[in-house]
Amino acid sequence: MNLHSIRKHFPALERELHGRNVIYLDGPAGTQVPKEVISSISDYYRYSNANTHGQFASSQETDRIMESARNKVATFINAPDANCISFGQNMTTLNFSLSKALVRDMNPGDEILITQLDHEANRGPWLNLEERGIIIKEVSLKPEGVLDYEDLERKLSERTKLVCIGYASNMIGTVNDVKYVRSLTRDRNIRMLIDAVHFAPHMAIDVQALDCDFLLCSAYKFYGPHVGILYCKPGLLNTLQTDRLRTQSADAPYRIETGTLNHAAIAGVEAAIKFISRLGEGKTLRDKITSAMQTIHRHEMDLAAILYDGLQQIKGCTIYGPGMESGLRTPTLGFSIKGITPEKVCYELAKQAIYAWDGHFYAIRAAEVLDLMKTGGVTRMGIVAYNTKEEINRTVKVMEKIASDSR
Ligand SMILES: Cc1ncc(COP(=O)(O)O)c(C=O)c1O
Repeated sequence: MNLHSIRKHFPALERELHGRNVIYLDGPAGTQVPKEVISSISDYYRYSNANTHGQFASSQETDRIMESARNKVATFINAPDANCISFGQNMTTLNFSLSKALVRDMNPGDEILITQLDHEANRGPWLNLEERGIIIKEVSLKPEGVLDYEDLERKLSERTKLVCIGYASNMIGTVNDVKYVRSLTRDRNIRMLIDAVHFAPHMAIDVQALDCDFLLCSAYKFYGPHVGILYCKPGLLNTLQTDRLRTQSADAPYRIETGTLNHAAIAGVEAAIKFISRLGEGKTLRDKITSAMQTIHRHEMDLAAILYDGLQQIKGCTIYGPGMESGLRTPTLGFSIKGITPEKVCYELAKQAIYAWDGHFYAIRAAEVLDLMKTGGVTRMGIVAYNTKEEINRTVKVMEKIASDSR
C-alpha cells in the first residue's frame, strides 16, 4: 500500500498544530474524507442539483446518481441487487424506522435479543418496543470484552423473533462471531440484524455469506459523508409495514426512505467506495473492493500491533477486549491508564496534535458492565488506512510521557 500517495488524497491530513501534522486516531467516530468524495458532493450541487423523477436533465442526472450509488453500495457489501439497499439520515434513524416496522408484525410476549456490547443505536430502538409488550433480552458481555455465546444460546426461545448484534465493537474493537450466531438462528427461523457500522471500514462485508436479514452501516465511517445504509434481504422490505406517506413508493428500496434524501451526500458515498476500490486489484469492482479491504486490514493490524505493544508496556495501562493474537478484533484500542482520566489523556494528546476520543461512544452498556463509567469510560485510538507507522510510534512516546507525568 503506497501510503504516501493515499495520504495525498485527504486534505484534512495537511492540518498542523505548532508546525506538526495532526495525527487522526478518531477514525471510529468518523474518518477523514478524500478529495474525490468532496468533489463529487460539490459537483452534484454545481451541476445536477434537483429532486428525483422529473422530465428535465438535472433531475434525470439525480436519478442516475442515486441508482449508481445504490449499485456501488450493493457491491460493497455483496448484496445480490441494488433494491436491497436503502438510504437514510444515519444508521440510528434507519434502525428506529426498522424497529417501528417490525413490531407491527409481532405480538406481546415475542422476544428480541440484543447485546451488552452493542452501541445504543442497536439497543435503544429495540428496548423502546418493551412499551408494546415485546420482551427484550440482553446477551451478557464477559469481563474479557467478548460476548457470552452460551448465554446467547440459552436466551433463544420459541418466542425469539430477532437477534440484533454488532459485527464489531466501536469501543473496544471486539469482532463478534456473527457466523456462529447465524448458525443458531437459522435453524430456529429467527431473523438476524447486524450492525456493521464499526466493522465496515476495516474488513470486507459479504451479506450473502452472512445470510443476515438486515445489515446497517454508515458511510462516514468508511471515508464517505454522513449517510446511513440499510440492507434488507431480497423481498423482505416489501413485506414490512414501514411508516410512509401514501405518495411514497411502496416498493423496495424506497419503502423505508421517507422524504427527500441527501442526494449530494449519496453521490459522495459512491465516490468513497470507488476510492476504496482503487486501493485494490482485480477484474470486477467486487474483486477490487475485497482486495482493497484485505490490504487496508493488513496495514491497520500491523500498526495496531505496534500500538498495542507500546501501550501494554506502559505501567498501569489496561487494554480492553481480545488480544492482537486472537484475530478477533479491529484496529480500535480502548484502554485506561491508572490515575488519569480518559478525558485528561485526550486533552494532553490534543495538545500534542494527536486527536483521540474519550468516553463510552454510546456503547454505554458495555462501559457500565466493564465498570468503566465511574472513571469516564476509556481512551479510544482507532487506526484507519491513512495512519502511518511514524504516527503510531510518536503516539506511543507521547502516551509514555502522559502516563509518567501522571504518576
Ligand atoms: C457500532 C456503531 N453502531 C451504530 C452507530 C450509529 O451510527 P450513526 O451515527 O450512523 O447513527 C455507531 C456510531 O458511532 C457505531 O459506532
